[in-house]
Amino acid sequence: MTRKKVFGGNWKMNHGLADTEAFLQDFINTKLSSECEVVLFPPFTNLHLMQKYLKASGISYGAQNFYCEEKGAFTGEVSLGMLKELGCTWVLTGHSERREIFKESDELVAKKTRMALDAGLTPMVCIGESLEEKNAGKTKEKLNNQVRSALEGMSESDVLKLTFAYEPIWAIGTGVNASQSDAQEGCKLVRTTLANLYGNEIAQEISICYGGSVKPGNIEGYMSQGDIDGGLVGGASLKSDDFSTLVNNGVK
Ligand code: PGA
Repeated sequence: MTRKKVFGGNWKMNHGLADTEAFLQDFINTKLSSECEVVLFPPFTNLHLMQKYLKASGISYGAQNFYCEEKGAFTGEVSLGMLKELGCTWVLTGHSERREIFKESDELVAKKTRMALDAGLTPMVCIGESLEEKNAGKTKEKLNNQVRSALEGMSESDVLKLTFAYEPIWAIGTGVNASQSDAQEGCKLVRTTLANLYGNEIAQEISICYGGSVKPGNIEGYMSQGDIDGGLVGGASLKSDDFSTLVNNGVK
């Protein structure tokens, strides 16, 4: 299988400058497997430190968000051009916290994903169902709709540049992680939708991560599942030793 393994560290609104420098000074000196891509997603205010410390390290970084305009009167927002100047090569789109708290619609997620691709960045497109949707048996429908809408108008070569993250909302930051089979089921649903739209050969090329209370102790189990190619990690990416252990356990 040629699929790339990807481990993303989504710091959310955590770590100021001092904590970020302490993390990076440690992280760049840890031995990380070269068999995967590691991507840090810190707050905007720390991206310049990523640029300073991670240059030539082989560790990638990106932003958790951006605004879908090039420039102008958009108080408080940050553009893709600004992120590129800071050396970002990845962005998250569709994270459930942006969908739920900041009311980002499927249409906006699709637009942002398109813009990120056009700007030459790699989007990690996040999707996932809520507990109510899971209990109502609507997981399949929700994932299918989210994936299809994010891919609206995308060519085969576009879709091959994407990475997905299946993150059931009920498992994010709760410590209630999905079972290996639930996580596999969700990632497989994403792959099946990709296969239905673009054919199986293309679907088999695309990396799909699982996210939701991923820890150094449970990543190996998730990675043993056929359709899980990595992890999108919140809490366990905040400490350098936790995250490096998690990455190395994930590629064992
Ligand atoms: P968590 O967050 O690992 O803290 O559950 C994952 C995410 O939201 O990306």
